[in-house]
Amino acid sequence: MDLDLNQLVATAGALIGQAPDAAALADAKARFLGKEGEITRHMKALGRLSPAERAAAGKALNEAKQAVEAAVNAREQALAAALLDARLAQEAIDVTLPGRGSGAGGLHPLSLTIERIEAIFRSIGFDVADGPEIEEDFFNFTALNTPENHPARSMHDTFYVEGRDAHGHGLLLRTHTSPVQIRYARTHQPPIKVIAPGKTYRVDSDATHSPMFQQFEGLWVDDDISFTDLKSVYTEFLQRFFETTDLDVRFRPSYFPFTEPSAEIDMRFRDGPLAGRWLEVAGSGQVHPTVMRNYGLDPERYLGFAFGSGVERLAMLRYGVGDLRLFYENDLRFLAQFNR
Ligand code: PHE
Repeated sequence: MDLDLNQLVATAGALIGQAPDAAALADAKARFLGKEGEITRHMKALGRLSPAERAAAGKALNEAKQAVEAAVNAREQALAAALLDARLAQEAIDVTLPGRGSGAGGLHPLSLTIERIEAIFRSIGFDVADGPEIEEDFFNFTALNTPENHPARSMHDTFYVEGRDAHGHGLLLRTHTSPVQIRYARTHQPPIKVIAPGKTYRVDSDATHSPMFQQFEGLWVDDDISFTDLKSVYTEFLQRFFETTDLDVRFRPSYFPFTEPSAEIDMRFRDGPLAGRWLEVAGSGQVHPTVMRNYGLDPERYLGFAFGSGVERLAMLRYGVGDLRLFYENDLRFLAQFNR
């Protein structure tokens, strides 16, 4: 056989060893080992040789074939390794860079405060109710014994809204949560124990007043309750809200058109930075007979006690915040402090 197998193996080895990718390698492999490949063709030609020649040539061809196969395998592995290296380099992560956290959010301090107020009142048997922020003049004033031209209306500098409701009543942004008293008592039977937290609006703006602020109303209607019950419930609430029994509560005579008699509720811490100062925390009183009638209930039969507190005020006292406007400026440096 006039065949230089060494030359053939060398050519194949060079071609295979330089194949730049899997496709080129497959071409090179086919050229030597494929059905029409050079080595295959020589194998087929063995049959035409004499038996003596055939044995020697067959052995040499087999060795050549194995050498080429080994070259293909080696190149295959080298290409795979190179591919992996390239991918790892591309996907490399620089673990020394600062993280890009997702910035988990949290509740606003006033939402936290309302949640706390609701949890305390629920635990002593109060329901939690809601009312509309765009309220009818009737529920905000008239039904609460504050008819048109009543001087008490000027205590509330009101945002009136254009238009009228279905009953011809004017519309306004509610100036307090007290209208929920009427709405709730008209749809529930005594005994009634409910609080109603929510946003309220007045034309007012300084370090302790914001045109939008939040209150929670409390209403308790039954046939045998007294101021003592109101005082014990509200005191219990304050003690749990501020997590201390070291505080005093006093009722100071006041005036509201919808309660008679009426009282401001003041509290005083016995220690801490505010110790000794009386702080006003709620308006309150016994439900006025006219208002009881507007609930649809008989004032001869039922007694009611109501109170209303400012949420911001309680949050400021609890957290030691000096300026109410901080709650509404959306500065995360301030807000983030309230979420652990
Ligand atoms: N609505 C009154 C206010 O906003 C507070 C209050 C509520 C007073 C209930 C008495 C009874 O000032």
